[in-house]
Amino acid sequence: MARVALVTGGSRGIGAEISKALKTAGYKVAANYAGNDEAAKAFSDETGIPAYKWSVADYDACAEGVARVEADLGPVDVLVNNAGITRDAPFHKMTREQWNAVIDTNLTGIFNMTHPIWPGMRERKFGRVVNISSINGQKGQFGQANYAASKAGDLGLTKTLAQEGARAGITVNAVCPGYIATDMVMAVPEKVREAIIGQIPVGRLGEPAEIARCVVFLASDDAGFITGATLSANGGQYLA
Ligand code: CAA
Repeated sequence: MARVALVTGGSRGIGAEISKALKTAGYKVAANYAGNDEAAKAFSDETGIPAYKWSVADYDACAEGVARVEADLGPVDVLVNNAGITRDAPFHKMTREQWNAVIDTNLTGIFNMTHPIWPGMRERKFGRVVNISSINGQKGQFGQANYAASKAGDLGLTKTLAQEGARAGITVNAVCPGYIATDMVMAVPEKVREAIIGQIPVGRLGEPAEIARCVVFLASDDAGFITGATLSANGGQYLA
């Protein structure tokens, strides 16, 4: 029977490529999204992958959303915590709202999504959790105190859940994308973006599909001995 995969932030950017790649690999896929109805509809029309709307920052909404997905597709075997936002500002200008929004989505969002799915994975003695962190959680980034802290937190959470899930057949890993050609990176001022590309040894932004292939591997049976790992895919920009 096909395994069920749930991808948060799964209808745009890196998440959309992850959803599509998992479908191609034979999974029954559900894509969660928070805000952009138009993009989600276009994504579902194009791919045939159902999109479900809720905010990963809202614990109760996550529990309800997971229940809906499981009623429609079956128990979630693979959870990809991809949803993430930026609210960039130098620290001296960063507001509490900017701080909280990013921590609530990028870090607490992984707690909110994994918590309702984890007991079922433990009972069934199988699970794959893949958390999309970031190069900037590894190295820090000017203008991203909130984002870098959230993404570094994701790595600590990943390593802890890997230890706790091991005895129940659950692997938990992180992928750290570098700068990938998505709306999020295109929103960075052009001059800043050009400077960043200059720091990437392969001399280009990454493609969303290059991250999706990492996720498909970590979700597969071939990756059963890999847990608590951080897979960096960043064109050599930061070696960790
Ligand atoms: N290093 C050192 N100094 C920097 C700097 C950097 N990376 N970036 C900006 N500065 C300097 C500016 O040159 C400026 O100096 P002066 O005052 O001497 O001119 C000073 O900091 C303040 O800059 P701004 O006036 O431009 O500040 P701002 O309030 O407009 O905000 C910023 C600046 C929002 C941080 C902007 O520089 C920016 O967007 N930077 C990009 C941040 C970034 O990389 N975000 C990643 C988004 S993609 C993503 O997050 C995905 C992922 O996982 C990789």
